[in-house]
Amino acid sequence: MTRCDHTPAWAALQQAFDTDGKALDVRRAFETDPQRFAKLSQSAPHVFADLSKNRIDTATESLLMDLARQCGVAQHRDAMFAGEPINTTEQRAVMHWLLPYPAPAPESIAQSAIKILATELAQVHFTLDAMLAFAQTVREDAAITDVVNIGIGGSDLGPQMVVRALDAFTVPGKRFHFVSNVDGHELDATLRGLKPESTLFLIASKTFTTIETMTNARSAKAWFAAQGGTDTSRHFAALTTNVKAARAFGISTTFGFWDWVGGRYSVWSAIGLPLAIAIGAQGFRAFLAGAHAMDEHFRTAPLESNLPVRLGLLDVWYRNFHGFTSRSIAPYHSALKRWPAYLQQLEMESNGKQVDTDGAALAYGTSPVLWGEPGTNGQHAFFQMLHQGTDVVPVEFVAVKTARHQLEGHQTLLLANVLAQAQALLVGKSDSGGHRNFPGNRPSTFLLLDDLTPESLGALIALQEHRVFVSGTIWGINSFDQWGVELGKVLAKDVEARLLSGDTTGLDGSTAGLLARLR
Ligand code: F6P
Repeated sequence: MTRCDHTPAWAALQQAFDTDGKALDVRRAFETDPQRFAKLSQSAPHVFADLSKNRIDTATESLLMDLARQCGVAQHRDAMFAGEPINTTEQRAVMHWLLPYPAPAPESIAQSAIKILATELAQVHFTLDAMLAFAQTVREDAAITDVVNIGIGGSDLGPQMVVRALDAFTVPGKRFHFVSNVDGHELDATLRGLKPESTLFLIASKTFTTIETMTNARSAKAWFAAQGGTDTSRHFAALTTNVKAARAFGISTTFGFWDWVGGRYSVWSAIGLPLAIAIGAQGFRAFLAGAHAMDEHFRTAPLESNLPVRLGLLDVWYRNFHGFTSRSIAPYHSALKRWPAYLQQLEMESNGKQVDTDGAALAYGTSPVLWGEPGTNGQHAFFQMLHQGTDVVPVEFVAVKTARHQLEGHQTLLLANVLAQAQALLVGKSDSGGHRNFPGNRPSTFLLLDDLTPESLGALIALQEHRVFVSGTIWGINSFDQWGVELGKVLAKDVEARLLSGDTTGLDGSTAGLLARLR
């Protein structure tokens, strides 16, 4: 496939940017085109998206679609949905989309437009059924009051984000804890309030080798024994592709998944067990159904009305032509507190790459920095910089129409704030004095859910997974490996030994100096 910066579309986009794009004033664009909102917004499963406050117009979108065609976005997508090993540095298929795939009747396999990998799908449903049955027994077990998920990265951020997000659907009488950091303060604080007889530990690790998780799991096991806990098979379960290692660790209740599920894409797998316990089998299946609906939208909708494609292309337009280096994530729902952190791993671990799939250095930027906090809190902290700072930072709002509380006035005020922030970023306000001047024309995307439910959350997550796929495909990178996390892991082992021995031979001056102070 031709590298994106060598395609005719890239050159056409550069020209369009230089002539009109750079100076595009979205306020004027609304004045001259009354259809702008209709043209630049759309519905996708469970999500309405308004892209019209962004610095694009239909001509730019059309060139971006050319770029998608010239970079083979549809072919690459189809290769993923055919189970081809598109994770080329690890020679793995990328099939997290198979996890929410409904159990098909045999004839629907034959009729399916995609190559469904029947053996894998059967295994997926076998494990899903077993995991949901286990979740049900935990839900019915009144003696278990605390569920502690021990995992990190994708084995923490996904389950933690979704359990918090669907708090309104959670079974009463159970508390959910998430321990990820190797910093013992976290586990210590969690264990302080627990009793072994009422606690279920879920050891979540794709590889079952991650040092943080193994260290926390060992300490949890030691605490359990020291507190008089006896029945490990009732109080520990493992969620992993490495069932053998989990058994060797002493855990007999295990739920597996497969190497074709990336850690940051694994919330649909056994890694989702905390959510299954929280919201039950029906809720978890609804969560999967929402994701599947978005997967199907991505797989089948024409590029022009394909929301993940439109968002992914907008990301490329901002990163590579406007030169915007970050995106602020602003969920206006307090249950989506961990949404920014979840997206940070999804996008920055997937697309934070400096070489293409052949290992050749890239001449253009890739993943932006993602950061944010729920609104309205962010408004009283960093929104100052979004409105008046020297850098332009596109904002991605998420708003939810319906509230699940009865407190009077709050929801209208919340919705008024999210609308007003997007409006203020766009319209700005002139003031000759300078300090009170708002430049306006600051871009934002508005994602709107009718309600925050298992279905809509599933769809919202899948939307983000595919949008990251689209920008990664344009950039010609492998969005499914993460070699960049390896060096620090290796060095930490060496430094740990040196902290114990005091040996600083061969270290750089700073590391040696700090190590000496820490001993
Ligand atoms: O260090 C990065 C990483 O490999 C992530 O990609 C992954 O989600 C996380 O570590 C945890 O890995 P595991 O689930 O194998 O413990």
